[in-house]
Amino acid sequence: MNETHKSVQEHYGKILGSKNDLKTKSCMCDQDAYSKEVRDVLPLVADEIIQKSYGCGSPIPPLLEGITLLDLGCGSGRDVFVASKLAGPKGLAIGVDMTEEQIALAKSCQEKQRVIFGFDESNVVFHLGYMENLRDAGIEDDSIDVVISNCVINLSPFKEDVFKEIWRVLKPGGELIFSDVFADRRMPEWAAKNLTLLGECLGGAMYVGDFRRLMGRVGFVDCRHVSVSPLPIDDEEIYRQIGFVSFTQRTIRAFKIEGLEDACEDYGQTAVYDGGIPGLPHFFDLDDHHRFFAGKPKLVCGNTAAMLSQSRYGKFFKILGDIAVHYGAFDCAEGSSSNGHAVNASGQSSACGC
Ligand SMILES: C[S@@+](CC[C@H](N)C(=O)[O-])C[C@H]1O[C@@H](n2cnc3c(N)ncnc32)[C@H](O)[C@@H]1O
Repeated sequence: MNETHKSVQEHYGKILGSKNDLKTKSCMCDQDAYSKEVRDVLPLVADEIIQKSYGCGSPIPPLLEGITLLDLGCGSGRDVFVASKLAGPKGLAIGVDMTEEQIALAKSCQEKQRVIFGFDESNVVFHLGYMENLRDAGIEDDSIDVVISNCVINLSPFKEDVFKEIWRVLKPGGELIFSDVFADRRMPEWAAKNLTLLGECLGGAMYVGDFRRLMGRVGFVDCRHVSVSPLPIDDEEIYRQIGFVSFTQRTIRAFKIEGLEDACEDYGQTAVYDGGIPGLPHFFDLDDHHRFFAGKPKLVCGNTAAMLSQSRYGKFFKILGDIAVHYGAFDCAEGSSSNGHAVNASGQSSACGC
């Protein structure tokens, strides 16, 4: 534990009484961002949990039934409980957080949520621990299907360790999906030490360009934006201090797949979604510029084909072709019937990747 950890624990354990005490919207999620599945479960989650939840996005993906999911920095456990309901009695949702007060609250609601969800046994486990060292929390190599995190990784002084741990614990083909605050430049050192800015999830926000490089070093060479939205700073004092930085809230998806390439390459492959993912009969969005309509073949790059075929989404996709013949670079923006676009570090439109 270092000084940053201590300050963050103090902030989330003692200073913040509820989400109403936040000065900015950085730890708040727009309700429209939630999928219908998630919106249906949220009213079943106890109010004391909701009041102490500080997430900035909706990193809960579809297709959770029967899987093992890990939430890093789970706080009061809102997303863990939602995921546990969607994972069902054969699934397992694990939450790790370093703040005693938050984990105590989550544990105190475990039995109540089990009864509300109608499960014979709780399928939820909470650990007090650090996301930089998941071994101490007993999380083994290649043991997790999905890692989620909601407005937490910006708070870590050791971000590369966090992503190395995520890569270690995910099963091959496993999915990382997380929401966080990002900056359009490297944050000045003083900002990461300013307790208000840090606690509001601004001071430690990652610069998108450095994030992409870090992910590549760890193994996640192609990570995709699921959503990107601007985060305006309304608080006058905070704006005075840091208003020269443009912040965004982003939800990012990546897979533990060996051999992905650092750019989109054309092997002449197509993917067809069969419409079978529960709750998604019409289309599946891999990211903000890949919407797969049920039954409609779509040209894809080698990385997208690998993500769709080697992850748990694979059984709902038919991939035609392999990577035997290379046809040159693939323009993912061109090859998709776009429902949005990826935005790179400089705010320009890009194809795949963060
Ligand atoms: C902004 S809150 C988000 C909580 C939760 N994800 C939610 O959506 O309500 C940040 C949480 O991350 C936890 N946290 C911060 N750094 C951590 C670390 N290094 N290891 C584990 N938990 C951490 C804090 O204790 C706090 O509960």
